[in-house]
Amino acid sequence: MERAEFLRLVGAGVGLAALAPCLQGCRKQQDAPLLSVDFTLDLSQSTNQALTTNGGYLVTQRVIVARTLDGNYIAVAASCTHQGVTVQYQASSYRFHCNGHGANFNESGGVINGPATTALQQMYTSLDGQMLRVWS
Ligand code: FES
Repeated sequence: MERAEFLRLVGAGVGLAALAPCLQGCRKQQDAPLLSVDFTLDLSQSTNQALTTNGGYLVTQRVIVARTLDGNYIAVAASCTHQGVTVQYQASSYRFHCNGHGANFNESGGVINGPATTALQQMYTSLDGQMLRVWS
């Protein structure tokens, strides 16, 4: 084997070795299709009790619905746009947090910090008495 050929083969091997971790760890952001939802939660039902307290939240139908510290209702898609882990609502920080890799989203679903780069889909909410409608 010629010296030049040897160096070319070694160089290619080093390049592949350097790329290997990225090929496994640098998965593409989730290209989740937009959710199409329209449902109503009866806040008088015990299953929705979390939404009767400021700062409370629940996840249903792939949507996280929360009641802010100001008593407003907000809702976004529950799956993190990075790799799909279900986000949590952290009322005192005014954000949705993903335990997967630490992404944070504001109360409208916008990215505060990555690794996620795509916003959570924001839903509409409307309260009529004890009936909370959530739709996209
Ligand atoms: S799944 Fe990675 S930050 Fe959410």
